[in-house]
Amino acid sequence: MPLSTSHAVSGESQPRLEETENPLVEGLERLPVRSTALIIFGGTGDLAQRKLLPAIYNLAHEGALPEQFELIGIARGDLGDEEYREQAREAIERFSRRRPDPDVLKGLLASFHYVRGSFDDEEVFRRISETLTALDQVHGEPLNRVFYLSTAPEFYPVVTQQLGKSGLNQAPGADVRVVIEKPFGYNLASAVRLNDEVLEYLDESQVFRIDHYLGKETVQNLMALRFANALFEPVWNRNYIDYVQITAAEDIGIGGRASYYEGAGALRDLVQNHMLQLLALLTMEPPIAFEANRLRDEKLKVLEAIVPPSLEDVPKMAVRAQYGPGVVGGRLLPGYREEKGVAPDSRTETYAALRLQVSNWRWAGVPFYLRTGKRLARKVTEIAVTLKPVPHLAFQSTGSVGVQPNQIILTVQPDEGVTVSLGAKIPGTKMRIRPVNMEFHYGTAFLSQSPEAYERLILDAMRGDATLFTRNDEVEALWAIVDPILNAWAEDTSSEIPQYEPGSAGPVEANALLDEGRKWRRL
Ligand code: BG6
Repeated sequence: MPLSTSHAVSGESQPRLEETENPLVEGLERLPVRSTALIIFGGTGDLAQRKLLPAIYNLAHEGALPEQFELIGIARGDLGDEEYREQAREAIERFSRRRPDPDVLKGLLASFHYVRGSFDDEEVFRRISETLTALDQVHGEPLNRVFYLSTAPEFYPVVTQQLGKSGLNQAPGADVRVVIEKPFGYNLASAVRLNDEVLEYLDESQVFRIDHYLGKETVQNLMALRFANALFEPVWNRNYIDYVQITAAEDIGIGGRASYYEGAGALRDLVQNHMLQLLALLTMEPPIAFEANRLRDEKLKVLEAIVPPSLEDVPKMAVRAQYGPGVVGGRLLPGYREEKGVAPDSRTETYAALRLQVSNWRWAGVPFYLRTGKRLARKVTEIAVTLKPVPHLAFQSTGSVGVQPNQIILTVQPDEGVTVSLGAKIPGTKMRIRPVNMEFHYGTAFLSQSPEAYERLILDAMRGDATLFTRNDEVEALWAIVDPILNAWAEDTSSEIPQYEPGSAGPVEANALLDEGRKWRRL
C-alpha cells in the first residue's frame, strides 16, 4: 500500500498561530507528544465526523499534534484513502470550531489512511498491523498506537479481543493505548463484565474510558476553584453548605438517536457519567497531586460514600418523566412517545431527578439534588451551591427582607463562569439589602475560545495522561449508585410515567424531592 506521511501537520511553522496566540492562554501546543498513530474504529461515524476529526484538526492548527502523526480510519464503507480524506475534509469544514486553514488542513489530511472492514474480522486487524508496520518504517521509529473505539458498544469487547489476539495490544518500543467511548456498560453487572473482557487483553494503564465532561474547561475549573483558592475550602462542608443543585438541562429532543436512547434513558445517558462526575469533583477531598491515580483515588472514595438507595427508597429519592407533545417557539413538536423509532408505550425517561446524600464526615446531612432532561426550557449545565443563612440578622426588619443565603453558581455551559451572590446595601438613606452578583466569565477574562473537550482528551490519551479518564473501579462505583434506581424503574411496569411540557422546567413531580421551602432554580 502506498503511504504518504504528514508534513505540515504541526502548526509550529504556521504564521497564523503566531497571529492568534493569546498571552492569557497557556496553549495546548506547549507540551511535546511522542510520534503517534491514531486508529479510529468507526472512522466515518457520526462521532468521528462531528467531534473527533474536527478536534484533530484544531490540535493540528494549534501545533499540538506530534511532529510525526498518522491517522487510520476503519469502517465498513467501500472507500479508498483519497475518498476518506475527502469525507474528512467535508466533516472538518462543517464541524470545526474554527474555519480551517487550507494549508494546515492539506498537511493534516495527507496523514489520513483508510482500512475497510468489519470490527470482528481478523483480516482487518492483519491489515491494520501491516499499515502500522509500514508507517513505522516510513518514520524510522515505532509510532505509539492509540486505538479509539468510536463504535456501537457491543463492539468494545470484540475489538479489544481482536487487538489482543492479533498482538496489536503491544508494540515493541512504543506505547499502546485504547480509548473507549461511553456508554461503558448499561448497568453494574455489564460494566463489571466489560471491564473483565477489556482487561483480559489490556493493562488498566492502557485503557482510557471517555467522559467528555471531564475535558470541558469549566469542569476542570471546578478543581481550580476549589484547590487554587483558600477562600472556599473553609466553607466547603456540612457546617456552611445547606444544599447543592446540579442541573444538566437540554432544549433539544432525542433527534435521530431513538435506537440508542430507548435503551438508555436520561439516568444512563447523563446522570451515571457526566452528572456524577460533577458531583465527585465538587465533593472529593483535595488530591495530593493533580495526577491520574491520586485524583481518581479521591473521586472513588467520595463516590463510595454515596450510599445507593434501597429498592423501597427509590420513589422517595428519584423521579422520572418524559417530554410530551407541545408547541415551542411556534412549532408543534412531537412528544417522546411519538418520536420516530420510539415505542408508543415506551417507559424510557427523558428526564431524571435525584436526591443524593454523601455519607462522610464532610457532607453528612447535605442534600445534593440532581436533575437532567431533554426538551427543557434551555440548555444549561450548572452547579448551584447554597450556603446556610447567617445565624443572626442584626438589621431592622426592613433591611432583613432582602437578605438571602449566599450562593456560588458554577456555570459549565453556556456562558461559562462563576457567580457568587452577596447581600449588599441598596443605595439610599435606609438600610435595605438585596442580593448582588460577583461574576467571572471565561469569555471576558481570557478573551479566547475554549478548546472543545475532545481536543483536550485526545491529546491527553496521546500523552498517556489518564487524569481526565474514568478508571475501572470508578466506573463500577458510578454504576453502583444508579443501579438500584434502574432496577426499581425496570420492575415498575404499571405506574404512569409523568409527562412534562416541552420547553418547561420539567415535571412538577420533581418538586417532591426538595426539602421544604426549597425550589428548583429557574431554567
Ligand atoms: C452525551 C449524551 O453524552 O452528552 C447526549 O449522550 C447529550 O444525550 C450530550 O446531549 C450532552 O453533552 P454536552 O457537551 O452538549 O453537554
